[in-house]
Amino acid sequence: MKLFIDTANLDDIKKAHSYGVLDGVTTNPTLLSKEGNDPLEQLKKIVEIVKGPVSAEVTSLDKEGMVKEAKDLVKIASNIVIKVPCTTEGLAATKELSQKNIKTNLTLCFSPSQALLAAKSGASFISPFIGRLDDISAEGMGLVSDIRLIYDNFSIKTEIIAASIRHPLHFIDAARIGADIATVPFNVIDKLMNHPLTEKGIDRFLQDWQKLKEKLESGLK
Ligand code: G3P
Repeated sequence: MKLFIDTANLDDIKKAHSYGVLDGVTTNPTLLSKEGNDPLEQLKKIVEIVKGPVSAEVTSLDKEGMVKEAKDLVKIASNIVIKVPCTTEGLAATKELSQKNIKTNLTLCFSPSQALLAAKSGASFISPFIGRLDDISAEGMGLVSDIRLIYDNFSIKTEIIAASIRHPLHFIDAARIGADIATVPFNVIDKLMNHPLTEKGIDRFLQDWQKLKEKLESGLK
């Protein structure tokens, strides 16, 4: 499973990139507005750091507006992917963009029917939002399973991005189900490598190493 970071924060992107396991970035209008900078300039800085897919979202609600915004966004770099909402206008825009070989990520996906139509329109990626479904007592991960099953039934190549991930178990479950990608906030990426037994084991090894050094030094005196 590929790992994307879900943020527009440059420090977090640089840090996650330095771990050597980052395959891409997803942003959205909320994440870009948190940074407070010109969004196009911020995206330019992001694509300098990460060479994999970087999702940038359109804010128009009609097909023409979406396609126009997409054409401007792809001028930033060849790895920009256009995030389009799962609406009928979004489908029409996706169809047109896919015919122009512009990659799309269909976002705010909350049902298998949205995911199937997104794929039919030529979406490169589909983003089911797990956490937001969990928030309303629906099973977010069940949606990822359903999409995996449907896409496999018809050998659909659209890649599933498990999105709106809130904690490490979401990440692990997405991997178990076979999501192609998980897009994960920085605080959760950091938690993925935390384990108290790893910390405890390192402490123990270092203490024993120190004891040996002290023993050898005292024997030499
Ligand atoms: O990848 C989608 C993400 O940005 C939404 O996450 O936590 O706002 O539901 P969240």
